[in-house]
Amino acid sequence: MTATATIYIVYYSTYGHIHKLAKALETGAQRVKDVDIKLFRVPETLSDEILAKIHAPPKPEEVPVIEQAGQLTDADGFLFGFPTRFGMAPAQFKAFLDSSGGIWAAGALRGKQAGLFTSSNTQHGGQETTALTTLPFLAHHGLQYVPFGYGHPALNATKEVSGGSPYGASAVAGIDGDSPTKTELEIAEAQGEYFAKQVLIRKLGEKAFAEQQ
Ligand SMILES: Cc1cc2nc3c(=O)[nH]c(=O)nc-3n(C[C@H](O)[C@H](O)[C@H](O)COP(=O)(O)O)c2cc1C
Repeated sequence: MTATATIYIVYYSTYGHIHKLAKALETGAQRVKDVDIKLFRVPETLSDEILAKIHAPPKPEEVPVIEQAGQLTDADGFLFGFPTRFGMAPAQFKAFLDSSGGIWAAGALRGKQAGLFTSSNTQHGGQETTALTTLPFLAHHGLQYVPFGYGHPALNATKEVSGGSPYGASAVAGIDGDSPTKTELEIAEAQGEYFAKQVLIRKLGEKAFAEQQ
């Protein structure tokens, strides 16, 4: 029996840390054959003037903008990534989620799967709460949350400051420019691979179920 699965990695990043994690998740997910991965950025809501004032670098042009939430219906699974804002999702990502009323009413995402990844400036700046406070969105859409668990040995390490939690990959952005670290990128790759396997397994199961019923 064969099946193919499509995963969208949909993210928001002001300074590029989440973009780098998204690329690492993509690399990991690409290790699973028969899975198609596409990267998208959500629309920026800040003006160019404000972005210049906060010294935000240019957006990566090679990553397309996802213009409307309806595009999500084309995928089987989603890795949603965004930096923390006071322990929660930033307005840019929230605006994207808030545009999903139409597909919510149609139940178009029910049964699909989603994983999360994030970043914060400080070690205890709210990475886990950012994932937790996003779970209601997944529940209301009937999306199955796929937490990463302790899927990489570095999640048990305590000798270095590092992102990565059972909720998903993350980066401690900090102020010294050395982020994401090698460890954080490895965790992100591992999550991407694990998530891609879970989505394909579900697709195969769906096919087997349809044949048996
Ligand atoms: C309005 C605002 C609120 C923020 N709140 C937090 C916070 O609560 N905790 C924290 O550690 N970092 C906080 N940050 C820092 C961002 O999370 C950090 O810049 C981000 O993780 C970097 O990711 P990016 O490079 O993908 O934009 C905040 C930044 C802004 C602009």
